[in-house]
Amino acid sequence: MSKLYWIETWGCQMNDHDSEKMAGILSGLGYDPAREAADADIVLLNTCAIREKAEEKVYQALGNLRAAKQAHPEMIVGVAGCVAQMSGKSVRERSPWVDLVIGPRAASRLPEHIARVQESRGVVDTTLYQDSLLRVAKPVRQSGDRRKAYVTVMEGCNKKCSYCIVPTTRGREDSRTIQSLLEEVSGLAEEGYLEIEFLGQNVNAYRCPETGEGLSDLLRRAGEVAGILRLRFATSHPLHFGSEIIRAMADLPEVSPYMHLPVQSGSTRVLKAMRRGYSRETYLAKVQELREAIPDITLSTDIIVGFPGETEAEFEETMSLVREIRFDQMFSFIFSARPGTAAEMLPDECPAGRKTARLMELQALQRGIQLEKNQALVGQLREVIVESPSRRNPAELAGRTPGNRIVNFRATGAVPGDLLTVSITSAGPNSLRGELVEREEELACSGAD
Ligand code: 5AD
Ligand code: SF4
Repeated sequence: MSKLYWIETWGCQMNDHDSEKMAGILSGLGYDPAREAADADIVLLNTCAIREKAEEKVYQALGNLRAAKQAHPEMIVGVAGCVAQMSGKSVRERSPWVDLVIGPRAASRLPEHIARVQESRGVVDTTLYQDSLLRVAKPVRQSGDRRKAYVTVMEGCNKKCSYCIVPTTRGREDSRTIQSLLEEVSGLAEEGYLEIEFLGQNVNAYRCPETGEGLSDLLRRAGEVAGILRLRFATSHPLHFGSEIIRAMADLPEVSPYMHLPVQSGSTRVLKAMRRGYSRETYLAKVQELREAIPDITLSTDIIVGFPGETEAEFEETMSLVREIRFDQMFSFIFSARPGTAAEMLPDECPAGRKTARLMELQALQRGIQLEKNQALVGQLREVIVESPSRRNPAELAGRTPGNRIVNFRATGAVPGDLLTVSITSAGPNSLRGELVEREEELACSGAD
């Protein structure tokens, strides 16, 4: 009987893809996927440390694994990802049934560490290796039928945002060669993938170590690969998101008219305390440049409320920025103090209840904007790539527009990966409904969303 693995993942797309790569390593060692954690010979929790809540979830999951480990002492329990990096050996002190603690840049060492654990030794490795998962070539892709693949182009972050744990957990920036990336993209196109999402903590800082080419060059060259219909990239930093990338987006039909550009705050004073390196005005100017080049771009953002010292007036500046820009999508969070970051020790007098109220206010504003923007699309045609059965109604399909909006619709016989034209019939704040347009009526699609 073959050995089985189970990987659970929290956090960002980079973590999702790292899990695919760890699955690739395990499959190379002869492991198959298990149906549930309790059946597995090795369980890996690929963790996120970005906020305290994400970290707590890991310890809950470890608590749940304790009984399984007692029942099968030979089961290997591993903690990978950013909590492993941040907490190191204290993970084993807190949960002594953990065999393996392995940081994001040490995970390429899984084979030797599994062997060491099997010699009945606990292993903690938080070394920031150069030959990390970034260069592991054979992921087991979880998105096969969606025909969308992640490709990590760089990892690490050289910025020093005062709230952020990522530079600690992921280390300094490191980019792959453009040659290896184009080979991977061509291979994926040959396998039938239609969409590629390039990933990096600061993806705009991508630079080929051999040729010096940057993200805009990579987009241009990947756009030439036959069979690739859509290219995306994340995550962008407003300071590094330059005109040459905007030009490549405008020039290339393959690059989705979609941009995730985290602003974090609408107050220049708070942005300075966050050490973001731009002001409200420069962010607004960047958005203007982007919208002039790609008028129907879908724009999403991240916002932190309740950063230490944020006043009511400064929070209002965030609200006014959101009203002014009218983002299509937003991810918003309450500030969470992370160990060792510059913001950890800042005096913070704002009561927790007030921070929650700010978050609710911001989210209510955004919901209204999203609903209006989605409703404005009713009656228009959009080209969607089918992703999966719809979440609410499995008799329907969910597809994604070039601008990253979800459309639910009926289409008998269609399967994930199909490219279809739908007419938008109604809209909610988070998704659209549509009807399939019969082929003979199909019109040239206009617009991006
Ligand atoms: N507290 C709250 N939110 C955070 N983020 C990053 N660090 C923190 C923190 N300490 C948010 C930022 C980032 C997103 C991925 O998570 O908005 O863009
Ligand atoms: Fe979480 Fe950041 Fe690590 Fe991704 S890089 S898993 S978001 S802490």
